[in-house]
Amino acid sequence: MAFSSKELVTPRGRVILEGPASPEYLKSLAISEHLRNFRNPARQKEALLNAASQPEGMVYIARSNGEIIGYVIFHRPSKHTRWSRHPRILELGAVEVSRPWQRMGVAKELLRLAFSNEALEEYVVITTEFYWHWDLRGSGLDVWEYQRMLKKLFGSVGFKKRHTDDPEILEHPANMLMVRFGSKVDKAYVKAFEDLTFQNSLVE
Ligand SMILES: CC(C)(COP(=O)(O)OP(=O)(O)OC[C@H]1O[C@@H](n2cnc3c(N)ncnc32)[C@H](O)[C@@H]1OP(=O)(O)O)[C@@H](O)C(=O)NCCC(=O)NCCS
Repeated sequence: MAFSSKELVTPRGRVILEGPASPEYLKSLAISEHLRNFRNPARQKEALLNAASQPEGMVYIARSNGEIIGYVIFHRPSKHTRWSRHPRILELGAVEVSRPWQRMGVAKELLRLAFSNEALEEYVVITTEFYWHWDLRGSGLDVWEYQRMLKKLFGSVGFKKRHTDDPEILEHPANMLMVRFGSKVDKAYVKAFEDLTFQNSLVE
């Protein structure tokens, strides 16, 4: 898969956006101590290595010198979810930017770079957004403001919110499923995805 990179000049300094990053390359970099929204930085680095090692996994990073200060991860959905039954699906598992580098356009530009990868045009890409993963305290946003921020951020690269009866999504009204159909996704795969969105119909 073609590696691409781009430079972003921020008020805090130069950031390199790049990917897909190989496990070897990721291993050679440090990780910001502030990347701890989902797990501690050491475990987060393991998660990046793990995703980059999977056959369809991809990791794009934002880097300041030799340090990872942001990332976006793509992987096959977990086998425990209905989405894994789709043959051409990838999940955007997480996007995170180190707190001191936030609000400078890093996430938006990182997503833009990742979705310039033609390979993603052949996939249905989903993100399942659960409010309990969001940084409500750090951002100062309430749950609805945070949802709006993410809807816009993911919307900037073509994701749209979709209804589903997935019980985890339904657990809280701010949770959401967002989907992006790549431009080369066959109609049959779009239909296969739509069939998966509602599974709990009244069949008795
Ligand atoms: C969500 C997150 C990745 C955004 O990263 P970022 O680099 O700060 O985002 P950007 O600077 O590219 O901003 C993208 C947009 O969101 C808005 N935004 C980001 N943080 C915001 C905040 N705290 N308050 C209001 N708006 C905010 C920006 O203003 C920008 O809007 P614009 O397109 O109108 O200019 C970052 O806040 C983060 O790591 N959060 C913790 C992990 C998380 O919640 N991940 C998402 C779920 S997987």
